Amino acid sequence: MTKTIAIPPLTDELAGVLIDAETIDRRVTVLADQINRDYAGITEPLILVGVLKGSFIFLSDLCRKLTIPHVIDFISVSSYGAGTNTSGNVRLLMDTRENQEGHHVLIVEDILDSGYTLDYLDRNFKTRGTKSVKNCVLLDKPTRHVVNVDIAYLGFEVPDVWVVGYGLDVGEKYRTLPYIAEYRSQEA
Ligand code: IMP
Ligand code: MG
Repeated sequence: MTKTIAIPPLTDELAGVLIDAETIDRRVTVLADQINRDYAGITEPLILVGVLKGSFIFLSDLCRKLTIPHVIDFISVSSYGAGTNTSGNVRLLMDTRENQEGHHVLIVEDILDSGYTLDYLDRNFKTRGTKSVKNCVLLDKPTRHVVNVDIAYLGFEVPDVWVVGYGLDVGEKYRTLPYIAEYRSQEA
């Protein structure tokens, strides 16, 4: 029996689908395969640290494709407030639960924009006695970088537009869209 999946229609606020659900799924499989290979044989479980809230859907799909031992943890930081402009001022809102000492850490992030968030997290986790700190980023806006961040695992590059769906939001809207879409502000 063929399963039909209802695709939520675009609204006036969504300019178009940038990356469809099937393409995302295929790419997440490739990233998980790379991670499985790179961390094969680790003695302590890999700690996946999802950056709330935007990474929660990406993380949940990614971790279910992993065959290496791993544990899930979360951190919450804020640099944006409610608007869409970065301040470069990263605040730790909620720290992780697990002790990372002696573990490999993989930070799982939805999108790299200015780079302030990942730069902060990378430096922060390196002070915690970790064996290694790398990141896995679903989306990158290369034209927006302000600070240099090395991406270990990247899903897709996107242009300098506001994107929503697959965990990413605008004012808490559109997080659960199965695809990545370009957001079109209705303000004149
Ligand atoms: P950075 O610190 O400037 O790299 O910002 C990264 C954070 O900004 C991400 O974790 C997202 O939460 C948010 N962000 C940046 N661009 C977008 C976007 O286009 N849509 C949704 N969130 C975004
Ligand atoms: Mg984020």
